[in-house]
Amino acid sequence: MGVSISLKDKAALVTGGGRGMGRAIALRFAEAGCKGVAVLELMQDEALEEVGEEIKKRGSEPLLIAGDVSDCEAVRKAVDSVVQKWGRIDVLMNNAGIGRRGDFFNTPEDEWKKVLDVNLSSVFYGMKYAAGYMKEQGGGAIINMASMSGVTGGTQGPHYSASKAGVIALTKFGAMTLGKFGIRVNAMAPGYIQTDMLEALFKDPEVRKQRWATIPAGRPGDPQEVANMAAFLASDLASYVSGDTMLVTGGRLS
Ligand SMILES: NC(=O)c1ccc[n+]([C@@H]2O[C@H](COP(=O)([O-])OP(=O)(O)OC[C@H]3O[C@@H](n4cnc5c(N)ncnc54)[C@H](O)[C@@H]3O)[C@@H](O)[C@H]2O)c1
Repeated sequence: MGVSISLKDKAALVTGGGRGMGRAIALRFAEAGCKGVAVLELMQDEALEEVGEEIKKRGSEPLLIAGDVSDCEAVRKAVDSVVQKWGRIDVLMNNAGIGRRGDFFNTPEDEWKKVLDVNLSSVFYGMKYAAGYMKEQGGGAIINMASMSGVTGGTQGPHYSASKAGVIALTKFGAMTLGKFGIRVNAMAPGYIQTDMLEALFKDPEVRKQRWATIPAGRPGDPQEVANMAAFLASDLASYVSGDTMLVTGGRLS
């Protein structure tokens, strides 16, 4: 008898689920048996509609929501609409984020603020509003998207690293303070994963070659490989896992 990851009857919300890892996670949640998967995205465009269709094909009910995760009201409304639709929120995947490169000399203050708003404040808003319902319903699972840059400091940008390190700290604070309500909080720290964000950050083939050479697995990850970890963390198989940051880096540790 095998062991399989089941999210049967769970209601999930994935932010930034229109593309990249968020899309893969939303579809993996649907495949694992979620009764409903809500996706909060910047725009209600064709890509988002397509994700909705794919969720349906996997036997789950989609809920597509347009909104900006750096706007606390948009996040509150998204969480509320999940509970209105399915009566509960079992899984919150705080995935949406933006990648920016820079150093201390060329990073404008407004870009610093933007990255912190989108990558970190959004996670606080999601946790705050979802945890309120999860506490009432007797539990839930929150997964936050950090990055290897948040673990090591990285070299991408001061704002990016600080935002992702903040996500890891929020995850630990959440695990310590929400555990007594049956709420588990974990983070994932992916390395290089093949998405539009990675394409945009590393356009130069030479730079890509150098970066990929640092990965013991010899290649960047596939969004599906991160989605598999998210499904495990969301499931009851991870019932005693909380406060952790899971590296999904193909063995890269620095
Ligand atoms: N790709 C990588 O190598 C990598 C590595 C580590 C961590 N991450 C993190 O993983 C997450 C997903 O990254 P990806 O590579 O899939 O990126 P992506 O750019 O392919 O997808 C990100 C999605 O988030 C959405 N989004 C962006 N800002 C938003 C906002 N303000 N409100 C709502 N939605 C918003 C975008 O529209 C897009 O659909 C991000 O948090 C990123 O920082 C990526």
